[in-house]
Amino acid sequence: MAILCSSFCPCISTHLRGCPVFSRSRLTRFSVSIKAFSSQTSASTTKDEAPARVGFLGLGIMGSPMAQNLIKAGCDVTIWNRTKSKCDPLISLGAKYKSSPEEVAASCDVTFAMLADPQSAVDVACGEHGAANGMSPGKGYVDVSTVDGATSKLINGHIKATGALFLEAPVSGSKKPAEDGQLIFLTAGDRSLYDTAAPFLDIMGKSKFYLGDVGNGAAMKLVVNMIMGSMMASFSEGLVLGEKVGLDPGVLVEVVSQGAISAPMFSMKGPSMVQSLYPTAFPLKHQQKDLRLALGLAESVSQPTPIAAAANELYKAAKSRGLSDQDFSAVIEALKVKLQHQT
Ligand SMILES: NC(=O)c1ccc[n+]([C@@H]2O[C@H](COP(=O)([O-])OP(=O)(O)OC[C@H]3O[C@@H](n4cnc5c(N)ncnc54)[C@H](OP(=O)(O)O)[C@@H]3O)[C@@H](O)[C@H]2O)c1
Repeated sequence: MAILCSSFCPCISTHLRGCPVFSRSRLTRFSVSIKAFSSQTSASTTKDEAPARVGFLGLGIMGSPMAQNLIKAGCDVTIWNRTKSKCDPLISLGAKYKSSPEEVAASCDVTFAMLADPQSAVDVACGEHGAANGMSPGKGYVDVSTVDGATSKLINGHIKATGALFLEAPVSGSKKPAEDGQLIFLTAGDRSLYDTAAPFLDIMGKSKFYLGDVGNGAAMKLVVNMIMGSMMASFSEGLVLGEKVGLDPGVLVEVVSQGAISAPMFSMKGPSMVQSLYPTAFPLKHQQKDLRLALGLAESVSQPTPIAAAANELYKAAKSRGLSDQDFSAVIEALKVKLQHQT
């Protein structure tokens, strides 16, 4: 399996980010205009090149800042979102709007999609007025949603049937890295589309891995998020137990942060968890979805994952208590309630 990281690939310096330009004759590696955060991309393009037209479908917590970074880098961005009002801030920054994924894909060279889950990713790519209807040879579709490998392969099939190229590229990183252009892309699929899309990935992220066949990016993302979900559940247990035996939870967070089990996630979310505050960066419903998909992946190869299975039960309990749209750190609340019931 080929694994490439951006550190081994030529990429745009974060100081010199500008929108790629596109040779209309065929989908090929973009040359890059070095015009950071300028809206006048045409000034630096050559005669047979035009600014690449980039589509973006799905403007939630992650999609909005990602699309915004493309716009700020001077890219020609066309957007669509199921709830149209979420498009308005980006339109005021210069984005074009189309009323369906099909129209976005038809008017763009490369279209990105950042949808909630497998069902919405399939609906937007393959449904009525879905992106596949607007795809054709010379175009590319990059799905950055977190889905399972089977979903990714299904979308790949629909896109490839049009003659276009497909790349799965789920991201590691949350709301703040999305805002800061610091995401990590876990890509797999058409290598030439990876090369083509690389300048855009470099605008939205700090690194990228090419992992080979479609499904490998999804698997990598699900394994990472399975670990993360279990870590947060375990951290929550520790906080609740510590408090119950009379420890100061703030001090516990500090002790954890200074030791071998320190993690940015604990330092970042611990202080607000202690105050029972869960400002949403990664919705709890998506963390439970990722655990569910990771357990399915484990099931497919008969791999025991008892820790993740237990963590998944806790996230399900949190969902049933109305915490779906809170940050996933709100999983601690389900544990508190559980312990209260036990006493
Ligand atoms: N947030 C994070 O920290 C994070 C980090 C890494 C990866 N991810 C993954 O990235 C993806 C998006 O996450 P997010 O946090 O941005 O989620 P989000 O805020 O819930 O946004 C979800 C997006 O999907 C759209 N959508 C949902 N159901 C749809 C349907 N049936 N048809 C069409 N569009 C639909 C939503 O449209 P509406 O606006 O109309 O609801 C919205 O644009 C998920 O797969 C998530 O697991 C998230």
